[in-house]
Amino acid sequence: MFAYSGRLSEQSQGPFTSRTPASRRASTTAGDARSMNDQLTTMRRPRVVAHRGANDVAPENTLAAVRAAVTIGVDAVEVDVQCTRDGVPVVLHDATLARTTDIARRYPHRAHDPVSTFTYAEIRQLDAGSWRDDAFAGEPVPTLEQVLDALRATGVGLLLEIKHPETQPRLVDAVADVLACFSPGVAVTAQSFDAASLHAFGRLLPEVPRGLLVHHAPRQPVLEAWVSAVNPWYGTVSSSYVRRAQLVGLETYVWTANARAAILRAADAGVEGIITDRPQRALDLLRATRRKTSIR
Ligand code: G3P
Ligand code: CA
Repeated sequence: MFAYSGRLSEQSQGPFTSRTPASRRASTTAGDARSMNDQLTTMRRPRVVAHRGANDVAPENTLAAVRAAVTIGVDAVEVDVQCTRDGVPVVLHDATLARTTDIARRYPHRAHDPVSTFTYAEIRQLDAGSWRDDAFAGEPVPTLEQVLDALRATGVGLLLEIKHPETQPRLVDAVADVLACFSPGVAVTAQSFDAASLHAFGRLLPEVPRGLLVHHAPRQPVLEAWVSAVNPWYGTVSSSYVRRAQLVGLETYVWTANARAAILRAADAGVEGIITDRPQRALDLLRATRRKTSIR
């Protein structure tokens, strides 16, 4: 790996969506030392993406977690979006509200019903913070619009996972509507495990980059070149995979790398981004070790 300047690297970072994959950058002419030096100064660490916000210091998928991630200085925040019965995109991971809200107290007979069976008026009454700590009592389930507001003008991007779209037929349309109105000023990338939904989303908002979530790095990344990124589980990613993905213009954001060894392994593989439950740890590690994405 090349040595690189962390300071120069940090300064070279653009918006979350504007990074040019290595394969799309101008190649260095053989023997052109000046060009090589120019490239060396633009190398930088992988982007750090706070998984469900900074969920190690605040309840996951809340505005408190989003704001904490901004304070830490991450490059982007990942959240999960679903749809209420009346079509409001809200931020929540699980298919039900049982684990992360006080739904069992408010609506005991509906505690394990799907999110999509509740109206937003019902969901906005819930406490999505107390389950984690009394200090977060009253923290609401945020809407997508509120998350966009919290990120606007911060320079922190949004990696938006379209969650459970196969059981929520209105979700893709509703997310696209909100993004069309409220995403200016926030660099958004959409991602999903559901390829059909990502395709549908791309038809509605082709200007928003899309990442396909997968459990294993694909053998033939070129088959996924219809998206801008393929985001595999970190344990399946190698440097040769990242190189092959870059050759067809695909970025790689791995999930969910939390242990020090996993974070460093992903950085060594040359990934463009690391989605993590330990964003402060990742930033500290990557800055301290001067890890970087590789140049091809
Ligand atoms: O960003 C990828 C990761 O969030 C996928 O897993 O279950 O945490 O949404 P999950
Ligand atoms: Ca997610």
